[in-house]
Amino acid sequence: MGSYDKVLIGASIRYGHLNKQLYKFISANLSQLKSNKVAFFCVNLTARKEDQGKDTPEGSAYIKTFLKKSPWQPTLVGVFAGALYYPRYKWFDRVMIRFIMSMTGGETDTTKEVEYTNWEKVSLFAQKFAQM
Ligand SMILES: Cc1cc2nc3c(=O)[nH]c(=O)nc-3n(C[C@H](O)[C@H](O)[C@H](O)COP(=O)(O)O)c2cc1C
Repeated sequence: MGSYDKVLIGASIRYGHLNKQLYKFISANLSQLKSNKVAFFCVNLTARKEDQGKDTPEGSAYIKTFLKKSPWQPTLVGVFAGALYYPRYKWFDRVMIRFIMSMTGGETDTTKEVEYTNWEKVSLFAQKFAQM
């Protein structure tokens, strides 16, 4: 990590959690993470609810949990809505995600692929990362 100017770590939420490998990576590289310029972003579908602030580190339950669990506290954190690619999911995932979407007022047509990402927000985050 020392040979890089900056590092950006991104991870998605699946069934309520960030990948365990992320926490393993953080533990294994903790001192490096703390002494370098490293930012973090999380992708999930709940973040499409911008009116509820779910796209902010303060309003995202996933980020709150991450910050509680992680011994590394990134100085720059981003939360972005990801994609909903029903046709690409396995049967079980498609059924489960459709159920979650029906509970939360999202797209339920499983023939559709929807990209919820607010790319303007991604650009702003990229600018902040560049200035870090
Ligand atoms: C199996 C599966 C489970 C998911 N579970 C959640 C979830 O619990 N909460 C959420 O907000 N988004 C959830 N998502 C949405 C993903 O975070 C989003 O689609 C993201 O763009 C996936 O990125 P990835 O394919 O790189 O993991 C899930 C997606 C998949 C495929």
